[in-house]
Amino acid sequence: MASRLFRTKSIDQILADADHPEHRLKKTLTVWDLTGLGIGGIIGTGIFVLIGTAIVGDAHRPGAGPGIILSFVLSGLTCGLAALCYAEFAAMIPVSGSAYTYSYATLGEFLAWLTGWNLILEYGVACVAVAIGWSGYFNNILAFCGIALPHWATHAPGVDGGLVNLPAAIIVLLVTGILVLGVKESARTTGLIVLVKLAVILFFIAVGASAIEPSNWTPFMPYGFQGVGAAAAIVFFAYIGFDAVSTTAEEARNPQRDVPLGIIASLGICTLLYIAVAAVLTGLIPYRQIDVHAPVAEALRVAGFNWGAAVVATGAVAGITSVLFVMMIGQIRVFFAMSRDRLLSPWLSKVHPRYRTPHRVTILTGIGVAVLAAFVPIGDAADMTNIGTLFAFVLVCLGVIVLRWTKPEQRRPFRIPFMPWIPLLGMATCLGLMAFLPVMTWIRFLVWTVMGIAIYFGYGIKRSRLGDEPLPERQTLPQSESV
Ligand code: ALA
Repeated sequence: MASRLFRTKSIDQILADADHPEHRLKKTLTVWDLTGLGIGGIIGTGIFVLIGTAIVGDAHRPGAGPGIILSFVLSGLTCGLAALCYAEFAAMIPVSGSAYTYSYATLGEFLAWLTGWNLILEYGVACVAVAIGWSGYFNNILAFCGIALPHWATHAPGVDGGLVNLPAAIIVLLVTGILVLGVKESARTTGLIVLVKLAVILFFIAVGASAIEPSNWTPFMPYGFQGVGAAAAIVFFAYIGFDAVSTTAEEARNPQRDVPLGIIASLGICTLLYIAVAAVLTGLIPYRQIDVHAPVAEALRVAGFNWGAAVVATGAVAGITSVLFVMMIGQIRVFFAMSRDRLLSPWLSKVHPRYRTPHRVTILTGIGVAVLAAFVPIGDAADMTNIGTLFAFVLVCLGVIVLRWTKPEQRRPFRIPFMPWIPLLGMATCLGLMAFLPVMTWIRFLVWTVMGIAIYFGYGIKRSRLGDEPLPERQTLPQSESV
């Protein structure tokens, strides 16, 4: 039994599977596409919506106040450490599946399954939160144009008299349709929207900076470090997405060089922008007046920039749309990889003969996310996303250390410096952020984990491809020079 749980998939086998004609994906993405995908996946609901709750707090935790600036630094550092681990893996194993595939090569099948199971929280459940955030700003814009949709049709049950969040469900289904038609098309769409949202963020920083009142920054940490830590665990959501670059590595033209570059560049750019947004937002108006539904746009309105609020709301809708694309692509790729390994049904991983996209898994993912987005509150979806993602990051950091130990000779186009301290620190900071999440989130996470374990023992362990194929474990990658 133990040998089954800890069987690993050799890196050669992973690369060969990815090249099988039935599953092969088109290799079209350049470094610009990848950085665009990264930024496209990062800047969204976290910075435009969740930052409000992180600053003022909610029923479960204190807020950070202006100390949100520190929260972004803390969360950004945590992601930076994990990003270095992702970069080493992604350059070494440039195939679909991201952290799931890396765990399979290092920590064994059981932990790989558990990683994949948590990536469903990271991508699938994140899409739910992102779609709800989209719906909020969309309603804002409609209100600006004098159109008010009924409350029952725009909020989940239990939220402000809601029954179903129709705009959230509809945007998910539209994105799904576009994704079935092909990843290159959606990467192009994402590229355009990324430019729009970068412009809007810079616009907010520039306009807001002109009206900063430094006294708003005092007291800096009204609830001390407890508030700053709790907020860091919320705004962690704002950084999720950089690792989506690694889930599309199989479609990159030159993955060994471009994937690490794409991951690190997109995360670095977003960290700087977030710290600036946090400083401007809390300097602009007293932190207690910050709105929790549309904080960035509303702060401009309160400060007297009505037209600026409209510009930001429009940019937020565009920005959040691109996040939805990237996260949906991430989720589809993870399911695709798990199905290719037969830990999920192989029926899912067939590629469409004409569009060359995994259409079945795309459509099923779209329907699942749309239904949840219609009926679940945003805060619950975001907390679940964060806990699952942080746990997946812990496993990736661990995997990098294990693989250096078990396969020291493996060719690594990108190597993390200061081994093993960077991954160890990455694990510690991820666990630290997890500790700041509410107890209810922990309980849900444990239930989710138990469900995952039950499905693995009920299905995956018996059907896994590794179960019926000899393992060429001692082989290594060919010493290619094409970096
Ligand atoms: N980082 C993404 C967002 O904030 C998930 O929407």
